[in-house]
Amino acid sequence: METMVNNISVEKATTSKINEVDFDNLSFGSVYTDHMLVCDYVNGAWQSPKVVPYQPISLDPSAKIFHYGQSIFEGMKAYKDESGKTWLFRPLENHKRLNKSAQRLAIPELPESHFMDGLTTLLQVEQDWIPQNPGSSLYIRPFMLASGKGFHASPADEYKFIIACAPSGAYFSGKVKVLIEEKYSRAANGGVGYAKAGGNYAGQFYPTQLAIEKGYHQVIWTDDNTHEYIEEAGAMNIFVRINDTLITGPTSDRILDGITRKSILQIAENQGIATEVRKISVSEVVAAAKNGSLKEMFGAGTAAVVSPIAAFGYKDTDYELPELENSYASQLKKYITDVQYNRSEDKFGWRYPV
Ligand code: COI
Repeated sequence: METMVNNISVEKATTSKINEVDFDNLSFGSVYTDHMLVCDYVNGAWQSPKVVPYQPISLDPSAKIFHYGQSIFEGMKAYKDESGKTWLFRPLENHKRLNKSAQRLAIPELPESHFMDGLTTLLQVEQDWIPQNPGSSLYIRPFMLASGKGFHASPADEYKFIIACAPSGAYFSGKVKVLIEEKYSRAANGGVGYAKAGGNYAGQFYPTQLAIEKGYHQVIWTDDNTHEYIEEAGAMNIFVRINDTLITGPTSDRILDGITRKSILQIAENQGIATEVRKISVSEVVAAAKNGSLKEMFGAGTAAVVSPIAAFGYKDTDYELPELENSYASQLKKYITDVQYNRSEDKFGWRYPV
C-alpha cells in the first residue's frame, strides 16, 4: 500500500528483516535496510522520488552502466543520539558533490529537493535501523547509474538515482599498514579523480590486491606524473603530521574534495593546530620518518572517519609510525564524532536534523 510522507510516495515492505540483524556485531556495508529510495530520469526529467521495499533492480543488458561505467555515488551516514534523535552531517555538501560528479560523467544533475526530501523521508521510514551502539551508524549510499540502452559510446538517455542504506560498524578494525604506490595511479590531470565515479574505485582494486599480497592493507596514491607526491590513502584523503603541523594535499582534478577532509581542516585550525594545505612529497615523508619528525599519518573519509596509519612501505623498506598519546587523529576523530552524534556544541552548523 502506498502512502504519501513529506510529499514522497512510500510503499512499505510487507515484512521486515530487522530482527535478523545482530546490531552488536555490525560489519561495514553488508546488511541492507527494508527500503530504498528510487528516482528515475526519463523523458528528459528527473521524476518524483519514491520509497519502495529494498529489492533488486532490473536493467536491459545494453544499459550503458554495464558498458561504459557511467555511474557515480556518494557516502554519507545517519547518526542517532542518546535521546534517539537522528542527525546527518553536512548533507548538502554531498548533494553538491553528487552534482559535480554528475556533470563530469555527463549525467543530468539532480535537484536538491529530490535529494534532501527523498533522503529524509527514507530515513524517517528506516529510523529503527539507525544503530545507537557506540561506533555504529547507518551508512547511506546514494548513487546514480545509466539505465538507458545502447552500445553507442555516448551518454544514456535514462538514469536511476537510488539511495540504499546499511547499518554499519567500523570500516577498518585497527590501524592500517599502507604501501606508497610507485607504478599505478588513481587519477590524472583532466581526468575524473575529483568525482566519485564508480570506476575510480574499480581501478584501485588491482594495485591494492598487489599491495595486500605484500602484507599491506591499502595503497597510498601518488601523482600520476612523477609518483613523487602523495595524494590519497586508499578510498580516503590523507593527512600527515610533521612535528606539530598537520598537512594535507590541495584538492585538484585528481584529489576528492572530501567532506571529512575539509571538516578536519576547519576543526584543526579552530583548535589551534597548525595546518598546511600543500603538496607533500614522498621524499619529505621518508626523511621525516627517518629523522623522527613524522608523528602521524591518517586517512579521513566518511566511511572510515579518521583512520590512523601504523606503518608505510616505500621501495622495499617499512617505516613505523610512533604510538602517540593524545594524537591529532584521536583528538580530531573525537571532535568530529561528538558533533555527528550530537554530543557537543555544533559550532560550525554541520549537524542536520532528520
Ligand atoms: C566513503 O568514505 O563513504 C566512501 O565513499 C569511500 C567508500 C569507497 C567506502
